[in-house]
Amino acid sequence: KVQEEIDCVIGRHRSPCMQDRHSMPYTDAVLHEIQRYIDLLPTSLPHAVTRDVKFRDYLIPKGTTVIASLTSVLYDDKEFPNPERFDPSNFLDESGKFKKSDYFFPFSTGKRICVGEGLARTELFLFLTTILQNFNLKSPVDLKDLDTTPVANGFASVPPKFQICFIPV
Ligand code: HEM
Repeated sequence: KVQEEIDCVIGRHRSPCMQDRHSMPYTDAVLHEIQRYIDLLPTSLPHAVTRDVKFRDYLIPKGTTVIASLTSVLYDDKEFPNPERFDPSNFLDESGKFKKSDYFFPFSTGKRICVGEGLARTELFLFLTTILQNFNLKSPVDLKDLDTTPVANGFASVPPKFQICFIPV
């Protein structure tokens, strides 16, 4: 489906550019779903409260280290039904338009949100569309035998290693 959108919006004779993203809701939804599903950084960096904070029934004293769980938001089943399943329709409305979610937090939130967000999102769009414009991806093993469940690796949670063939289109 992403390749159909690439053919329709970009074609084969020019490189993708960022303006294309607005006309490519399915591709945008796939990229959001990849980031939600892989949950690359399950937590924020450690922060500390600068004053006593009352949060729900808790008092968090000044200086306490606070680490936010991003997984708890990205895998919230009230917002994303079947969060363990990869499903781009989490970011699409009934008419196939891109649907924003307030639970899309892979870069964290607040004043210390990732400073590389803009660069990362630009690269993800340009790299994915350029690859799929020029190659079909094929797994040497049956897809049902391919486990892409992210593996905890220190601070990050990364997909396991697997092989993929890039076949020129
Ligand atoms: C898909 C790619 C990326 C993801 C998912 C990501 C995610 C994050 C997250 C979750 C944080 C912690 C924010 C917090 O503590 O509340 C962070 C911080 C940060 N990121 Fe990224 N990041 C990505 C790419 C990048 C890139 C490309 C750069 C630089 C060009 C970058 C630079 C930083 C820096 C400098 C911080 C620390 C910000 C601070 O503490 O004020 N990140 N990132």
